[in-house]
Amino acid sequence: MLGRLNHIAIAVPDLKRGAEIYASLLGAKVSSPQSEPDHGVRVVFVELLNTKIELLEPLGENSPIKAFLDKNPVGGMHHVCYEVADIMAARDHLVAAGARVLGDGDPKIGTHGKPVLFLHPKDFCGTLVELEQA
Ligand code: CO
Repeated sequence: MLGRLNHIAIAVPDLKRGAEIYASLLGAKVSSPQSEPDHGVRVVFVELLNTKIELLEPLGENSPIKAFLDKNPVGGMHHVCYEVADIMAARDHLVAAGARVLGDGDPKIGTHGKPVLFLHPKDFCGTLVELEQA
């Protein structure tokens, strides 16, 4: 069912500092910051040869990463995103197997303009998993 690793998302308290760490210290190619008001985050993309790292900073009062940063004030790995060919088939398979899909269970349009779902960390080895239809 799983395809490529699309990205790993890391929540950071300070996006400018996070971008500097990846660009200057680690020598990676880092995009300019982008605000995603619909998703409550500001993001930079770190381009690697085989995948991307997304650094996420909270945007607005109801940011979905705010509680995570309250618990992890220096930042931390927030989720991993795997590609699937058919997100509805993937969801139906997982729900039938008893796994929990977050929210109302219907795919939403993610930060790349493609349908995504988030899966409950307790059902996936303690990791928040995002599925994105490739
Ligand atoms: Co993501």
